Amino acid sequence: MSAALAFDSRTSLYDRVRRVIPPMEWPAFADDVDAILRLKRARNAVILAHNYMTPEIFHCVADITGDSLALAREAQTVRAEIIVVAGVHFMAETAKMLNPGKTVLIPDLQAGCSLASSITAEDVRLLRQRYPGRPVITYVNTSAAVKAESDICCTSGNAKKIVESLGEPEVIMIPDKYLAANVARETGVKIISWEGACEVHERFTARQIRTLRAENPGVVVLAHPECPPDVVDEADFAGSTAAMSEYVQHRQPGRVVLITECSMADNVAVLHPKVDFVRPCNLCPHMKRISLSNIRASLENLQHEVTIDPAIAAGARQAVERMLNV
Ligand code: 13P
Ligand code: SF4
Repeated sequence: MSAALAFDSRTSLYDRVRRVIPPMEWPAFADDVDAILRLKRARNAVILAHNYMTPEIFHCVADITGDSLALAREAQTVRAEIIVVAGVHFMAETAKMLNPGKTVLIPDLQAGCSLASSITAEDVRLLRQRYPGRPVITYVNTSAAVKAESDICCTSGNAKKIVESLGEPEVIMIPDKYLAANVARETGVKIISWEGACEVHERFTARQIRTLRAENPGVVVLAHPECPPDVVDEADFAGSTAAMSEYVQHRQPGRVVLITECSMADNVAVLHPKVDFVRPCNLCPHMKRISLSNIRASLENLQHEVTIDPAIAAGARQAVERMLNV
């Protein structure tokens, strides 16, 4: 769902975020918000924003918001000429491969991901040699070159479904060793994984969750499947960022903690004033490279354009489209 649609059209932009942005901080954002809204119209552009963007981006300038799966799906339906991805580089590459004819911009080219940088296309070729005949399922948090060496992609929102759809007793799932371990337990499929991890989610510990429960009686714990399996074991529910958001929306827990990146709780909290959010704060340094000011500069100067070598793009697109078709 677009964050903008979650509000009544009469809600002022500041009212959308007043629960998480103090009034004295808003003037520092207001000028960039106005300029971005104007530039989007002038340039025929849309902004796709991941759930980890800060609230002034997520609730005030984004057109389409969601988890990696939703952003990939929605990227296919965009009519505008220009897509600005408020997220990390692999998300912009995915938008580009699904929209080869459009201009896809990312406000900071350095917005990477510890998972994407943990594996190369050559690594995938070597894995195939070592484990012949096993299908390669690649998490979308990877480069286009790695996707191009893969049979099919997955996200945290559909990993279980994708593994089950293949009907194989053994698969290669790269590069997140924790997601792979969590999906192996859920499906019973033998998974050959890779030594990659998300630098945000690997920092959560089972002990931390037990302490959170002791200090916050009755708290409902929702964890991202990039967390280690013993952390997921301590949680009441594990799912993608969108699944966590939907859990809060539908179940309205009295008190909740989201075991994931920090801004996510702010974005969900503004929509659910009756829910009390406990907030351990692990920031993703890559996601936090995206700001209102570099989104504005991106639209003003049409920077930084994301391109993919056509020889790579065809294979990568096929792996993503196979996923979207499951
Ligand atoms: P989601 O697809 O669940 O939004 O996860 C993306 C991501 O980068 C999590 O760290
Ligand atoms: Fe990558 Fe983790 Fe940041 Fe997501 S939160 S972009 S998986 S480093």
